[in-house]
Amino acid sequence: MAQILAIESSCDETAASVCIEGVIASNIIASQKIHEQYGGVVPELASRAHLQAIVQVVDTSLKKANVTLEDIDAIAFTQSPGLIGALLVGTEFAKSLALAFNKPLIAVHHMQAHVLANMIQSKDKTNAIPEFPFLCLTVSGGHTQIVLCEDYLQMKVIGQTLDDAAGEAFDKSAKILGLPYPGGPLIDKYAKDGNADKYKFPEPKIDGLNFSFSGLKTAILYFIRDEKIKNDNFVEENIADICASIQSRIVSILLNKLKKAADETGINNICIAGGVSANKGLRSSFEKIGIEEGWKTFIPAFEYCTDNAAMIAITAYYKYKAGIFEDLSVVPSARAVF
Ligand code: KG4
Ligand code: ZN
Repeated sequence: MAQILAIESSCDETAASVCIEGVIASNIIASQKIHEQYGGVVPELASRAHLQAIVQVVDTSLKKANVTLEDIDAIAFTQSPGLIGALLVGTEFAKSLALAFNKPLIAVHHMQAHVLANMIQSKDKTNAIPEFPFLCLTVSGGHTQIVLCEDYLQMKVIGQTLDDAAGEAFDKSAKILGLPYPGGPLIDKYAKDGNADKYKFPEPKIDGLNFSFSGLKTAILYFIRDEKIKNDNFVEENIADICASIQSRIVSILLNKLKKAADETGINNICIAGGVSANKGLRSSFEKIGIEEGWKTFIPAFEYCTDNAAMIAITAYYKYKAGIFEDLSVVPSARAVF
């Protein structure tokens, strides 16, 4: 029975998870609040906060799973991509545990892990998981990708953003509206009561399966600037309609490309993943288009959408079964393709 301890520290969550034979036994996350006051993640502060939290987070995840380090069969960590100082904390911590307890080491790609979050089954194994091949729209704070997944560890990026990521589009739009960081969940919250057809923002014309969000950001910036000249309270008075309109445009940009990818590949097992897949507008529109197009749709449970170590653990489980291990010379990488 493979018991794996996984550590995630690529950005601003310090997380640890224990996975026992492919079932998540614990999933502990410490979110770093310190960045809110700066309007974005400050890399140096993130590294320091990871250092402060990691012992407790790992300890709690072991206790919650009712296992000790001696019981663990392999130690996994996020190797890339991410903030290099943040990745270093998790990498060196995992390497130290592997050395001290003489355990194999498994390096995980964070974006592959977001995709494989769709493979996590609940304890009673009642949720459906996708069959291969499937497509996954992975939308996070740093990435927007359409991934063709042929097997657990065989993935190809077939479309991606040329500039901002979808999460950045949410966060930067929120910043223009004067909302605190991270603004994505707040746009989601206000959009619930708004009219998505009230304001029309442009959809960029980008070839193939790639995305672009920088034009949308500029359009929102100028629109808000001009409306505020006419009415200083424009944002406060129309926040729900503005958020609903922004959200609906980001979602339509994402889903139009996903539909194109499904048409071109003929694949109809379709997943979403990453922090933005927590967005209620995206989740409901995705399910709606899935019914219209005859897709089988999959969305990870809410707690496995935003950054977490359970997705690192499940990916490590498949690497463990495939016998893919690292030695202690392994180093993290801020950018790495798969
Ligand atoms: O996957 P994630 O937790 O971290 C990265 O790997 O980047 O994604 C974080 C991103 C942020 O941009 C955040 O604003 C966005 O996901 N996000 C959301 C929602 N929840 C998180 N965006 C829109 N609606 C949400 N409910
Ligand atoms: Zn992520």
